Amino acid sequence: MSAEEEKMEEIKEAQEELKNDVKIVEIEDLPFVGPATAEKLREAGYFSVEAIAVASPAELSSAAEIGESTASKIISAARKLASVGGFETGDVVYERRKNIGKITTGSNELDRLLGGGIETQSITELFGEFGSGKTQICHQVAVNVQLPKDQGGLNGAVVVIDTEGTFRPERIIQMAEAKGLDPDKVLKNIYVAQAYNSNHQMLLVDNAKELATRLKKDGVNVRLLIVDSLTAHFRAEYVGRGTLADRQQKLNKHLHDLLRFGEIFNAAIVVTNQVMAKPDQFFGDPTKPVGGHIVAHTATFRVYLRKSKGELRVARLIDSPHLPEGEAIFRITERGVEDR
Ligand code: GTP
Ligand code: MG
Repeated sequence: MSAEEEKMEEIKEAQEELKNDVKIVEIEDLPFVGPATAEKLREAGYFSVEAIAVASPAELSSAAEIGESTASKIISAARKLASVGGFETGDVVYERRKNIGKITTGSNELDRLLGGGIETQSITELFGEFGSGKTQICHQVAVNVQLPKDQGGLNGAVVVIDTEGTFRPERIIQMAEAKGLDPDKVLKNIYVAQAYNSNHQMLLVDNAKELATRLKKDGVNVRLLIVDSLTAHFRAEYVGRGTLADRQQKLNKHLHDLLRFGEIFNAAIVVTNQVMAKPDQFFGDPTKPVGGHIVAHTATFRVYLRKSKGELRVARLIDSPHLPEGEAIFRITERGVEDR
């Protein structure tokens, strides 16, 4: 086989693999779902075939203003298309987990706390009060994931869903230079979108899937998806007791979409969640924090950040299933996240 042929063969294989890996089906692909119905469904929060697959006919019928029997037909078609309820054998799960990658935070101590760095195929939630370093860590990881493997990176590209307008390319440039990377190249590997409200934020995960699929075809792997902040829009839009269940349901769906992205693309998911400074408010009563139970149960790693003296920050791992609880102290300097 000539080198050319070999290359073609490789590309074909990669495309096959991609086809098996990522089946992106739009809700318009379902029977009885025309543009008008699709729009109503999206407005009601049904952004994906998966979401429809797990809906009840009554829910869907009122959301899309269609009859229940049509709704039933749409749901059963969605179940066939979507991978919900699909079982995997243990070896498949094992195979996937073997590919888990880790991204350095820039601080050895913090990496150690996390069991080696920020993991792919998981959601890492950074929570803490304003100025505790959530956004700084996001920026740092967006740079570090682009490093080669032997330097704690994954040679990967980044998608950022920015809900508060706090993404700062200037900061990326500083951090990239500190790592000896070409800042221009680093910036070109970060795809940023502003989310204007919670629905838009959820929709952007679908867009991120499309983008990552497209990039993968060009040999670029998205290895990190950041949502900074995960909860701000939800908090602002859903106020008052009556809307709480609604908010949690949406947030739950959002987190599962994110986790799914992480699994499909073997990417790390990093989300931030601002909380008030009074620790007993969320350690004492788990029903109180924003996002509450749902974020707590879906995030694989929950890192509580707090300010210490000057540049120092303290990270604590909260109820991680397989890592010991402990604390790590690190610094945020002009160069970025560093050991103390
Ligand atoms: P909210 O989004 O408001 O909830 O806060 P956050 O947790 O995202 O805070 P963020 O990560 O933005 O941290 C801001 C803090 O990082 C600042 O108060 C500084 O202490 C520190 N910081 C940011 N940039 C620099 C820098 O260039 N040099 C130094 N030394 N510190 C910096
Ligand atoms: Mg922030």
